[in-house]
Amino acid sequence: MLRSALLNVMIKAARKAARTLKRDFGEVEHLQVSLKGPADFVSAADRRAEEILREELMQARPGYGFLGEEGGEREGSDKTHRWIVDPLDGTMNFLHGMPHFAISIALEREGTIVAGVVYNPANDELFTAERGKGAFVNDQRLRVAARKRLADAVVACALPHPSRGDVARIRKEHAAAQDRVAGLRRFGAASLDLAWVAAGRFDAYWERGLSPWDIAAGIILVREAGGFITDLEGGETMLATGDILAGNEHIHSQLLGLLKDAGQA
Ligand code: IPD
Ligand code: CA
Ligand code: CA
Repeated sequence: MLRSALLNVMIKAARKAARTLKRDFGEVEHLQVSLKGPADFVSAADRRAEEILREELMQARPGYGFLGEEGGEREGSDKTHRWIVDPLDGTMNFLHGMPHFAISIALEREGTIVAGVVYNPANDELFTAERGKGAFVNDQRLRVAARKRLADAVVACALPHPSRGDVARIRKEHAAAQDRVAGLRRFGAASLDLAWVAAGRFDAYWERGLSPWDIAAGIILVREAGGFITDLEGGETMLATGDILAGNEHIHSQLLGLLKDAGQA
């Protein structure tokens, strides 16, 4: 498959960082984590992967800015471009030996996401999208699911710790959705939740309070797969608020109404 130079840069970086993550995941699986404890081990794995991503991306596009979960914001000389990177999304899964985690890389140009890569090293699934050029998993074109009825929909969501966000409201949303959809899922890696909406595996996904690096790449995957993606008011503030709802046109609009009503109940 012929890919653009830009996507090739992003994929090369993702695959390189994935090599260290895979090694570290192997250690976690065999319970050979350092004496300092698994959480320290994982945050070191995180930082190592982000360092590799930053080096690779900076080398290929020296002037671009960089926003990474671990290292924060680093301004570049080119103020129109910025990488937005989560070196390890799905940390809790990683830590528990569950092969559902990803590297997420997006490129923002003048405030718009123009390319995204989400890579799960554990099963070698590589999700890519570029503005106007479609979304793919490995070499296969992606399209969001065609289901029209909420009652047939499988929907991904979050089960945040009570210390995060408005738990009472989130519980109301869960209860309302549970009554109306075919099934709810909580897989624990926002970038993959969005990639799976793009792939038509989930009919929709919503979550509140995410960070830009969790969702930037997933936003373009969903859009390029023909999906709808907004904040939970139906607006465009996803990167600023971290609130997100993705799905096909039909399921998105039904779920948006349902979640709004649930919040007011
Ligand atoms: C988390 C995952 C998770 C989401 C959390 C995120 P991390 O990212 O994407 O699915 O529910 O809000 O913080 O910490 O694993 O990079
Ligand atoms: Ca994340
Ligand atoms: Ca992370």
